[in-house]
Amino acid sequence: MSLTESFTGSLAGSRILIGISGGIAAYKTAELVRRLTERQAQVRVVMTDSAKAFITPLTLQAVSGAPVSDTLLDPAAEAGMGHIELAKWAQLIVVAPASANTLARLASGLADDLLSTLCLASPAQLAVAPAMNQQMYAHPATQDNLAVLAQRNTLVWGPGQGAQACGDIGSGRMLEPMELVGLIEDYFTPHAQPFAGIKLMLTAGPTREALDPVRFISNHSSGKMGFSLAAAAAHLGAEVTLVSGPVTLATPAGVTRLEVESAAQMHATVMAHIAEQQIFIACAAVADYAPKTVAKQKIKKTADRDNMVIELVKNPDIVADVAALPNKPFTVGFAAETHDLAQYARDKLTRKGLDMIAANHIGLADHGFNSDTNALSVFWSNGQTELGLANKSALARQLLTLITEHYNDRS
Ligand code: C5P
Repeated sequence: MSLTESFTGSLAGSRILIGISGGIAAYKTAELVRRLTERQAQVRVVMTDSAKAFITPLTLQAVSGAPVSDTLLDPAAEAGMGHIELAKWAQLIVVAPASANTLARLASGLADDLLSTLCLASPAQLAVAPAMNQQMYAHPATQDNLAVLAQRNTLVWGPGQGAQACGDIGSGRMLEPMELVGLIEDYFTPHAQPFAGIKLMLTAGPTREALDPVRFISNHSSGKMGFSLAAAAAHLGAEVTLVSGPVTLATPAGVTRLEVESAAQMHATVMAHIAEQQIFIACAAVADYAPKTVAKQKIKKTADRDNMVIELVKNPDIVADVAALPNKPFTVGFAAETHDLAQYARDKLTRKGLDMIAANHIGLADHGFNSDTNALSVFWSNGQTELGLANKSALARQLLTLITEHYNDRS
C-alpha cells in the first residue's frame, strides 16, 4: 500500500483554504499543507505580503499542487479562481500561522488584502492557529481579539507552549503541523450525536438582585462555562435551552436562549419549562440572597447616615427545587469552592438531591470565574473523577461525556 492510499480517511475530497500570515512559524505550514494533500484534501494557499518574507509562494505551490494566491486585485488571478469563488469553494479556512496583526485585522473585520477579504466573504468555518512572541500573545489587545473571534465561533487552535524562535519561553508557539492535521481531521469527522432527541436545559451566568432602580447585588460569573456546555450539548445533538443571566456572550449555534436578571426570574423561567427536559445542568452563579425590599427610587446618600443595613432574604434554590420534582430530569449542579472542595461538593450532592456535581476551585489561578480555562472534580453517588485543567470547551465535552454515561445508566 502506498503512503497516499493509507490515508483515505475523513479528509479525502475536503476543500481547505490555508491562510499564511507573517511569522517564523510559516515554514512549518509547508509541512502542514503536505500532510493534508497526502490525506487527499484539496488545499489552496493564500499568503499575506509579510508571509512571503518567511517562505516563498513557490514552495507552497509545490506542496499544495495549486497556484498560490496573494493579491486581491490581480486580473490574472481573478481570471483563474477569483476571490469570491475561492471564498465559496472553501469548507474550512485555517490561518496558520495567525500573527498578532492578522488576528487584530480579522477581529476588526478588515478587508484590505486577499486573506482578510476571503475570511469576510466566506461562509466557511474559520480556524486560527496563533503564533507570536509570548509577550505579544499575553498582551490584552491580542487576548481581546482572540476573545472576539472565539465569540464569533472562530476555532482558536493553540498556541502551544515552549521555546520560541526569539529565545523567549512561554505561550505563543504555533501548534505542530501534525497537531493541526489532527484538529482538521476532527473537524471533518462526523460526530456521534449521543444527545440526539434529548432536551437539555442549562442555567448560566450571574443573577442580579436589585436594591433600587440603579443598583444591584451580583457576582463575577462570566457565563463562559455554561455557554461552552450549551454549545457542546447542541453540537452533540441535544435540543438546548439556555436560561442566562446578564452576560456579554453570543448565543451558541442551535441554542434557544431565555434571558433573565434575578434569581426569582431564573427560578420561574426554569420551572415553566422543566417538565419537558430530560437533563438539567445548573451552571449559573445564582445569588443566594436578595434584598428584602427594592426601593422604588434611587437610595440617596444623606449627611446624617454613615451606616446602612440592607436586609436580605434567601432566594429559591433552583437546582434543589428541580431535583425535588416527582419526575425530575437528570440533574447536575456546580459547586465553586475556595477550600474543602470534595467535602462541600459531596454534601451539596446529597443535600440538594443531585445526580452529579461538578466542583471547581475558584481560589486557584486559571480556575473558574471569568477564566477561559477550568478544572473540575466531578462527583456522583458512588464515584468521582477529575477533569484536568483545560479550556472550557474541551472541559464541556468531557463533562457531557460523563453525563451521557450516567444518564444512560440511570434509564
Ligand atoms: O449552594 P450553592 O450556591 O453553592 O450551590 C451551587 C449550585 O446550586 C450550582 O449548580 C448553582 O447553579 C445552583 N444554585 C441554584 N439556585 C440557587 C443557588 C445555587 O440553582 N439559588
